[in-house]
Amino acid sequence: MWSFQKLLLTICIALRCVTSAVGVIHVTGYVGREVNVSCSYDEGYESYEKYLCKNNCGDSDVLITTSESRKNKYRIHDDKTARIFTTTISDLHSTDAGKYWCGVTRNGKDIYTEVKLKLVPDRCCDTVTTVQSYEGYSESISCPYDSQYQNNFKYICRGNRPSTCLQQALITSNNRENRRFRLDDEKMLRKFTVAISNLTQSDSGSYLCGVQRNSDHDVFSAVELEVKEWCCVKSTKVTGTAGHPLTLQCPYPSQNQNNRKFLCKGDHRNSCRDMAMIESRLTLRDDIYSNSFSVTFTKIQADDAGTYWCGSDSQWRVGNHVKIQLSVDAGQYVVYAVPAVLLLLICALVVTVYQCKHQKVKDGKAAMNRNAENEEGLEEVTAGAENNIYGNEEVVRYKQQSACNNYDDAGEDEPDYENFTTSEEVYCNENFHRR
Ligand SMILES: *[C@@H]1O[C@H](CO)[C@@H](O)[C@H](O)[C@H]1NC(C)=O
Ligand SMILES: *[C@@H]1O[C@H](CO)[C@@H](O)[C@H](O)[C@H]1NC(C)=O
Repeated sequence: MWSFQKLLLTICIALRCVTSAVGVIHVTGYVGREVNVSCSYDEGYESYEKYLCKNNCGDSDVLITTSESRKNKYRIHDDKTARIFTTTISDLHSTDAGKYWCGVTRNGKDIYTEVKLKLVPDRCCDTVTTVQSYEGYSESISCPYDSQYQNNFKYICRGNRPSTCLQQALITSNNRENRRFRLDDEKMLRKFTVAISNLTQSDSGSYLCGVQRNSDHDVFSAVELEVKEWCCVKSTKVTGTAGHPLTLQCPYPSQNQNNRKFLCKGDHRNSCRDMAMIESRLTLRDDIYSNSFSVTFTKIQADDAGTYWCGSDSQWRVGNHVKIQLSVDAGQYVVYAVPAVLLLLICALVVTVYQCKHQKVKDGKAAMNRNAENEEGLEEVTAGAENNIYGNEEVVRYKQQSACNNYDDAGEDEPDYENFTTSEEVYCNENFHRR
């Protein structure tokens, strides 16, 4: 069978056989990837054996037949409904490029379709356009194309692998909007643009603009997108003292003069809280002549410590935004330590005086009760209780007395309680006032 075909082919080649030249199938594959070679056949040949062969299709040139679905790096599949059989050649090397034949085995001369396999490297491109932008910005990637492709299908993908670009397209001309991406085909300008909004640093990297071609591999142009970190932040450290006012200075870029200014609190500017909205203690003063604004806290508190952002652009576009690390000084407690000691001393005195007074009142009461007891004949129990209190008070009183008498020992020997307390009160008060 093969020798007969070979003979026919040789004749054909010699005669510049037109039959095989008709409808040559052009296939392009990427080096290192796989390629599908699809050949259709006429009705009636569904059950016939099909094959793919190389070069002159000699016996040794047959690569795979439908009687074996897989052989070496070839796979074959016959779709009898569509009457198309497809041979997949994987692990493509440059040596795989060249002429192939799709064949249908039949009695007499087999049916041949010529296939030309072209291989291109799976990378792109020699020239790369660089686009620079910043976090949070929107940027357009421009993809020029030849005028002949005005009506072709367009797409864009990440990376620089043409072979997988369509599969992994971020957006295509059939689906022009997808989350942060939008594709506009400006046919008159022979370019399509892909706008990416709300850029983040992870958008940085290579992109391929693809234009699909029907009879050849797609054409690509490469773009390198560089999303820079939101820059130019001036970082400052400020320390405030609790209970005191504090003013933060916030210079801003002159182009933001007419924008609303704000102070935002939070570790990250993306999630910070606008303080003006929640704090009535803040006063914001804008000085457009010096391109800066100030924020004054009437009284700073310990929990005011943290990271602040002086904002002059609600979009947080690039500019000289200021980041302030505010710490609230705990040192004020040292400052107050001395007054605190004094305060304690005063308290001790007040307590002493109070207790002196208290004693007088109790003594008075006791005396009155004694009088009442005498007058009204109260029960023994009450009198006993009173006596107990009285006795306890006596102990306390003597302690207090000595405390009071540190300043003046007059009246120490007073045997009369009522008289004594009166004089004691005077002493305590006097001592207190004297100090
Ligand atoms: C080849 O065809 C198969 C089956 O249709 C498909 O899964 C595969 O993605 C195709 N490969 C290429 C490189 O087009
Ligand atoms: C931009 O991205 C950030 C973080 O991914 C998100 O919080 C914000 O809502 C986005 N803004 C817009 C306008 O899409």
